[in-house]
Amino acid sequence: IDFAGRTAFVTGGANGVGLGIVRNLLEAGAKVAIADIRAESIDKALERLDNREVMGVQLDVTSRDGFKAAADRVEAEFGPVSLLFNNAGINLFQTIEDSSYDDWDWVLGVNLFGVINGVQTFAPRLKARALSGEVQGGRICNTASMASFIAGGAPGIYNTAKFAVRGLSYSLRHSMYQYGVGVSVVHPGLVKSHIYASDEVRPDALKGAMKPVDPAAVERLSGIHEFGMEPDVIGARILEGVRENRANIFTHPDHEDELRELFDETLADYRDYPQDPGYEQRIAFEKMR
Ligand code: NAI
Repeated sequence: IDFAGRTAFVTGGANGVGLGIVRNLLEAGAKVAIADIRAESIDKALERLDNREVMGVQLDVTSRDGFKAAADRVEAEFGPVSLLFNNAGINLFQTIEDSSYDDWDWVLGVNLFGVINGVQTFAPRLKARALSGEVQGGRICNTASMASFIAGGAPGIYNTAKFAVRGLSYSLRHSMYQYGVGVSVVHPGLVKSHIYASDEVRPDALKGAMKPVDPAAVERLSGIHEFGMEPDVIGARILEGVRENRANIFTHPDHEDELRELFDETLADYRDYPQDPGYEQRIAFEKMR
């Protein structure tokens, strides 16, 4: 797929991974909309990019109406979107037993429903345009995480959301194939980003039953993220994967062994049970149909 001349919509595009994707898309000749909840970050990004092919739109990805309005505005200005990057995300390190419903609503709201809202807004448009011949093909790329495979105790809700984003992406890849729309899911490792400051964008309405933020933990995380991959580097790898229409885009080499171990452990859970009596009949039944 050639990105030149296409319109892209990047959620969480004002910082971190999203901004890396934006820069690379602009270099490849696409028109790009940065959709982000932080208005100041959008302004800063637009100023730095200084490019007529990029526009900003303030959007909270948890708002379904807001998503539709943002999509309409971008398409009125830049034409039909055929490259969608559902990338906005936040993190919260907290075990499930210590989490409140507000925590679930916030993390699933942004990290899972943000992606769902993007897909609900754009997938029917991409399908309709493919059927009418108005736009040939396109791509949807969702940012998950290595945490979509590897679970730990602390990121309980984050793991839940990211595993779901992976499942959604694989399913959508099957159904959108016939319309020439490729779907990929990205699994980054550590990135030099501001995700440790996620609490800044937590809505007041979901702060009710929240554990107080530990400034020392935030500082430690910000230190760790300084060692993360540069956004422009990960942006380039993501676009390479999207161009090649890879199902999974692994941007960091550091987790391959861990993943292999995980698959081995998973398969080791199989037991040598005898085949169920209905099995042969089911295979024969399916063959007849
Ligand atoms: P970041 O915090 O630097 O950038 C995320 C952007 O999303 C910010 O500009 C923020 O304002 C925006 N955002 C947050 N909530 C939003 C909402 N409700 N609506 C619209 N925009 C919203 O973080 P980063 O690291 O660039 O995160 C991007 C994606 O990468 C996320 O999905 C994250 O889970 C994923 N990721 C990040 C890793 C890392 O090490 N930083 C590792 C693995 C995955």
